[in-house]
Amino acid sequence: MPLLEVRGLTKRFGGLIAVDDYRLDLPEGEIYGLIGPNGAGKTTVFNMITGFVRPDGGTVRFKDRDVTGLPPHRISELGIARTFQNLRIFRRLTVLENLLIGRHKSFSYSVADALLMTSRYGKEEGEGSKEVIEVMKELGIEDYSDRPAGELPYGIQRLVEIGRSLLTRPRLLMLDEPTAGMNPREAEDLISKVREIKESFDLTIWVVEHRMKVIQGLCSWVQVLDHGRIIAEGTYDQVMRDPKVIEVYLGGA
Ligand SMILES: Nc1ncnc2c1ncn2[C@@H]1O[C@H](COP(=O)(O)OP(=O)(O)O)[C@@H](O)[C@H]1O
Ligand SMILES: [Mg+2]
Repeated sequence: MPLLEVRGLTKRFGGLIAVDDYRLDLPEGEIYGLIGPNGAGKTTVFNMITGFVRPDGGTVRFKDRDVTGLPPHRISELGIARTFQNLRIFRRLTVLENLLIGRHKSFSYSVADALLMTSRYGKEEGEGSKEVIEVMKELGIEDYSDRPAGELPYGIQRLVEIGRSLLTRPRLLMLDEPTAGMNPREAEDLISKVREIKESFDLTIWVVEHRMKVIQGLCSWVQVLDHGRIIAEGTYDQVMRDPKVIEVYLGGA
């Protein structure tokens, strides 16, 4: 039984079918990739799985339980974490404070709430903060702990967001274009970090990415989406040889 099983997932925005009959069997412990041109529907797939967008049709099963259409905080509690294509961190809060918010699963987006939450959790030392420190070390961001996140290089801000998602203790981690805004070196570095956190946190990972190097370096299985439909899937080498995929990536450009 796969960890995540998706069938017939569909989303319309007005007259546009953004995602059409999407399906997936994601086995535990794997790293899968989802690629496709801009506007293909990748983020909408992620949004439907994580409860940010309500599907018009289809089912999502996680750990053999129907989670279709549940709100984001429930999905998070059940063990699915994600990062966003457009980074969502609190720029004025420190790295540590941003991470502490992850421990409060259904984090709110108000800075005032966040500050309240972090001061409350900050007082509860012990196990919690040990976990936060472990995550910072794992991601190599412990030196930035007291710095406001917004002042840090983009690559580091991305790691802060990943760190926050890890602190919700997910089984499945979904990364939406994690190397966006990173330089090639930071992107290389992220590949090895993702491999490391997969092992240390015993994760299954699903990644949307534009950089083929990242997909090639990480994913055991890749799906290619175009105009909301899966046009190819297989290993990286298989999909890259597929004429339909070549057409999509080279044809219309
Ligand atoms: N909330 C929304 N309202 C209307 N259209 C949307 C919305 N979200 C996405 N879309 C449209 O759905 C399509 C797929 O978008 P998206 O999932 O963001 O693609 P990708 O992540 O592959 O670039 C695009 O045409 C986009 O404009
Ligand atoms: Mg997207």
